[in-house]
Amino acid sequence: MSCVVIVGAQWGDEGKGKIVDIYTEFADVVVRYAGGPNAGHTLVVGDEKLVVRLLPSGILRPQTRCVLGQGMVIDPAVLIGEIDELVRRGHRGLEARLAVSDRAHLILPYHVLVDTLRESSSAALGTTKKGIGPAYEDKARRTGILAGDLRDSARLRAKIEAALDAWAPTIRALGGEVPNAAELVTALEAAKTRIVPMLAHTSELVDSAIRAGKRVMLEGAQGTLLDIDHGTYPFVTSSSAVAGGASVGVGIGPSRIKTVIGITKAYATRVGAGPFPTELGDADGDHLREVGAEFGSVTGRPRRTGWLDLPALRYAARVNGIDGLALTKLDVLTGLSRIRVCVAYDTPSGRTRDFPIDELQTPNAVTPVYEELPGWNDKLETARVLDELPTAARAYVRFLEEGAEVPVYLVSVGPRRTETIMLHNPFVGRAAEP
Ligand code: GDP
Ligand code: IMO
Ligand code: MG
Repeated sequence: MSCVVIVGAQWGDEGKGKIVDIYTEFADVVVRYAGGPNAGHTLVVGDEKLVVRLLPSGILRPQTRCVLGQGMVIDPAVLIGEIDELVRRGHRGLEARLAVSDRAHLILPYHVLVDTLRESSSAALGTTKKGIGPAYEDKARRTGILAGDLRDSARLRAKIEAALDAWAPTIRALGGEVPNAAELVTALEAAKTRIVPMLAHTSELVDSAIRAGKRVMLEGAQGTLLDIDHGTYPFVTSSSAVAGGASVGVGIGPSRIKTVIGITKAYATRVGAGPFPTELGDADGDHLREVGAEFGSVTGRPRRTGWLDLPALRYAARVNGIDGLALTKLDVLTGLSRIRVCVAYDTPSGRTRDFPIDELQTPNAVTPVYEELPGWNDKLETARVLDELPTAARAYVRFLEEGAEVPVYLVSVGPRRTETIMLHNPFVGRAAEP
């Protein structure tokens, strides 16, 4: 029985898509457990590059059952658009491999409208404007629409009318126009006929797969520091991105999960507003953005870039219970003469090795303390074992591993499947060290 969670250990965009795709070679089922089309998970296979937003990143492995779990918020139009795009690219038979939780919540046009109107106000958070916050607000307010409601048009219409009644004052206060419920229901007709056949009790489906000894991968979206409870609130998303969210978002007991893999880049990035203490605004920051192609997969926005933050990584290791790390984008550091890593923080109450999550609410209250490591100039993309990395790159991996207090399971040295150093595969045991 193996059930593995893959979780982002930073502010998202750590390379979850690539890592899930890599491990899915060995998995039977892949389940997305949180978030919605705010995610952009990039898969590079041969010459093909694909960004998935709602579909699990195992979708390009034809043997894999892919599940959209009940912790997700699903925009029906985006889901259909994604499937059609894959079919257009020649990937067939997808719908037979897909299961959509009938308990997942739907993102409807009024969610996108509210998100977008709020983002044009002075209270903007820099969201992806995909309707995520308002859809989770509806879930908590108990006015949400479930994917299962697509089965019954009368129930769907009644629920949309009730939700619109609840949203109307907000929409008007933001200067928007309240949409018409009947028109929304009509516009859902086409998506309904496509999605209803994919609806399933996914909690039961996944639990049975685990009991049957299948290999199951639970794919996180966003990252620990964007989590609604554990992130840099209020500059967070609205879902439980952490590994604990996988249990709730899939609908399986926590005892079913055997391994948690955290993903971190070899440096740090963030999109949108909010604290980012190791952020750079200099030539090194430009290097990371340009060489790392750090532009949002969903919105195209340039990502903010900075040095790796070990206190933040230890925090992520703790709140997720990370067993091992997948370290991505090590190749992007090639060419930097020296690399800095935040190892501690100076705070008003003294120096600490802990991530100062509370103090970060006050601007400039904390100062990162850095250690400096030597850089390297060799390209890393062809390395397949640690020994093929230059000495300084190997030393960087060891420094990070010791600082994070978690072993490194995988090192990624490029976006492609082959550009990977696999040290431990939770589905097949430990690979022989070179
Ligand atoms: P996700 O949201 O966590 O799946 O990450 P994104 O797909 O939004 O962003 C990660 C980006 O880095 C994508 O463009 C990937 O193709 C790319 N990528 C992943 N791993 C590596 C790596 O090891 N090296 C380089 N250079 N790019 C990588
Ligand atoms: P993946 O899964 C990076 C950020 C947004 C914004 C905040 C709230 O690709 O790693 P939202 O639209 O969720 O209400 O926006 O969260 N954000 C992400 N940043 N990667 C993501 O997903 C993100 N999903 C949301 O930029 O700051
Ligand atoms: Mg992304």
